[in-house]
Amino acid sequence: MDRIRIRGGRPLSGEIPIGGAKNAALPLMAAGLLTDERLVLSNVPRLADIRTMGQLLAQHGIAADKQDDAGRIMSFGGRITNTEAPYDIVRTMRASFLVLGPLLARTGEARVSLPGGCEIGARPVDLHIKGLEQMGARFDLEGGYIDGRVNGRLQGARIVFPFVSVGATENLLMAATLAEGRTVLVNAAREPEISDLAHCLTAMGAQITGIGSDTLTIEGVPALHAADHAIIPDRIETGSYACAAAISGGSVFLRHARLDHLGATVRVLREAGVDITEQPGGVMVKRLNGLHGADVMTEPYPGFPTDMQAQFMAMLSVAEGASMVTETIFENRFMHVPELNRMGARINVHGSSAIVRGVPSLSGAPVMASDLRASLSLILAGLAAKGETVVNRVYHLDRGYEAVEQKLAACGADIQRLGG
Ligand code: UD1
Repeated sequence: MDRIRIRGGRPLSGEIPIGGAKNAALPLMAAGLLTDERLVLSNVPRLADIRTMGQLLAQHGIAADKQDDAGRIMSFGGRITNTEAPYDIVRTMRASFLVLGPLLARTGEARVSLPGGCEIGARPVDLHIKGLEQMGARFDLEGGYIDGRVNGRLQGARIVFPFVSVGATENLLMAATLAEGRTVLVNAAREPEISDLAHCLTAMGAQITGIGSDTLTIEGVPALHAADHAIIPDRIETGSYACAAAISGGSVFLRHARLDHLGATVRVLREAGVDITEQPGGVMVKRLNGLHGADVMTEPYPGFPTDMQAQFMAMLSVAEGASMVTETIFENRFMHVPELNRMGARINVHGSSAIVRGVPSLSGAPVMASDLRASLSLILAGLAAKGETVVNRVYHLDRGYEAVEQKLAACGADIQRLGG
């Protein structure tokens, strides 16, 4: 199994290209199920999760064709020949569940494996199911699969989410585009990836108002059609490399990044002593002097993203003073803490909060990545640490970060992937 070795202590300097957003690409690929015509997506990131979603679509009869050598432009299309999303695929990637709404809306039936738990918590899908039930779908649970059926078309409905869910908003938004009548999604997620999906669906002929707000209104149409759509840059990759520039004491230009998608991340970075500004073609990040502690609490967008929490914690572990990091979205998302502490960080977890007492320096160590964002947090710690850090189980990293070693090495990091 691959490992990544970092010899720390070098400030990063240079430019890092930011790829298309994984969490935008996955629902956009699922949207390919909503029409027989071709959906052409550009700026597709090259990631394990994208390949997994490609396999799932292929299983449903929708072939993903690469339109360029790099595989950044992909087209999807074809008739749905199979409405089952098997356990073997869904268990490796929860976002597979996003095919449920489109399959039901298109074919009136879907059999999708329940995702179950994952490293960062229980992560139920009840909001997806309840919303689709309100739209007229009926579900049975059988052998770990959720078996869904609709008589005729889904019916428009007013769906009030009790709390914000990115995936449930996306599933219901996609389903509502082909429903009969009007659907209103109240307390919808407002993440830039949701707006990206809504813009693409609009280009496919969907009628959606309220894009970017917490209330989405969808007038169902009988069919969607072909469209071309460019995926937004990845705001979590952007924030992660901003932390890399900061923790290493360097300055990096993040090409293609968008400051307006970063929400509270910008404010917290500035509070910690990081200079982050929009420039033509991207975002410039520079550490000014020392890093200062800052308190963060994860929240739905535009609040501070849970997907940035682990990376921020690595950065705060070498900031002056104490910081409090509170996780409100996932109950088990502090698995990077013991690993950071093995490198000399001083972090104590109390329930859903962690107190980070900044230390002057970290020391390299062999560590274990527990999930995608935790992997990057350990790489960040390695960049700042004295000596050698080896991050094991990097397959998590490959699900969501493209060419991390190359991107960091191009800015002067001493980082290498070791096989076996
Ligand atoms: C998406 C992102 C993930 C990010 C998360 C929160 C993708 C592919 N993944 O995941 O990277 O960390 O948003 O920003 O875009 N919940 C329920 N019932 C449901 C649905 C969710 O209880 O039916 C809970 C979850 O367990 C969690 C919270 O709601 O505590 C938010 O989850 P949600 O926004 O749905 O996350 P995902 O869409 O799974």
